[in-house]
Amino acid sequence: MIIKSQQPIGIFDSGIGGTSIWKEINTLLPKESTIYLSDSKNAPYGQKTKEEIIDLSIKNTEILINKGCKIIVVACNTATTNAIEYLRANYNIPFVGIEPAIKPASLQTETGIIGILATKGTLNSSLFEKSSANINDNVQIIEQIGEGLVELIENGEMHSLKIRGLLEKYLSPMIAKKCDYLVLGCTHYPYLIPQIKSIIGNNITIIDSGAAVAKQTKNILVEKELLNTSNNQVSNTFYINKEKSVLKEIFKEYDKIEIDYLDF
Ligand code: DGL
Repeated sequence: MIIKSQQPIGIFDSGIGGTSIWKEINTLLPKESTIYLSDSKNAPYGQKTKEEIIDLSIKNTEILINKGCKIIVVACNTATTNAIEYLRANYNIPFVGIEPAIKPASLQTETGIIGILATKGTLNSSLFEKSSANINDNVQIIEQIGEGLVELIENGEMHSLKIRGLLEKYLSPMIAKKCDYLVLGCTHYPYLIPQIKSIIGNNITIIDSGAAVAKQTKNILVEKELLNTSNNQVSNTFYINKEKSVLKEIFKEYDKIEIDYLDF
């Protein structure tokens, strides 16, 4: 029987966005095998109710548990902020989540104004409300829903004029109000960083939590004695329940990656 530490890390997202987290995990933990679920058929989660997001998160969690994962990374801010409490209370497996990094931004801001770009589901969640209530009163948070961005990224239109137009509309108020930190509160958005940078210039620093999630995953594996220290062959499998060309494009420079269609 395969020993527990050699079992894969399970990762899920509403679509391809969580691959930005997968890349951080793979860089920090190259000896770990992974199974990634891209629930692109149901994207965007950000427009759904809390109950729907919990149901989809249960479905993804059970697939990953049945495939033998030793830990689950919820590589989606929307699923984390709406469903991770439920998952932790109901499944006996460690979970790592991702939440918008407004705390670090609030500690570093000099203008006292930070921006956050995230989905409606994340910004309306009670977990996000709690985190923003704990931010220093002197810091103003400009919240912006990134409506339409996830759909365009899922279609592979990261560099389109359409996405640029939306980004200009969403980011201009932040620039005008002299915000100096921009928090990316959706794992799809790191794929827009080149476009975002060309709009915001050098006076606004982008904060994204991908590397912190990978570090937290490692810490939990160490703490639970689940880190793979053997030199067994690593496998990285991606399951997508929609057309797989966008995933293929994202991983064109990686070898030893398996991308399969799965009906889930
Ligand atoms: N990647 C998801 C997140 O981090 C996208 C949410 C969505 O599907 O709307 O929030």
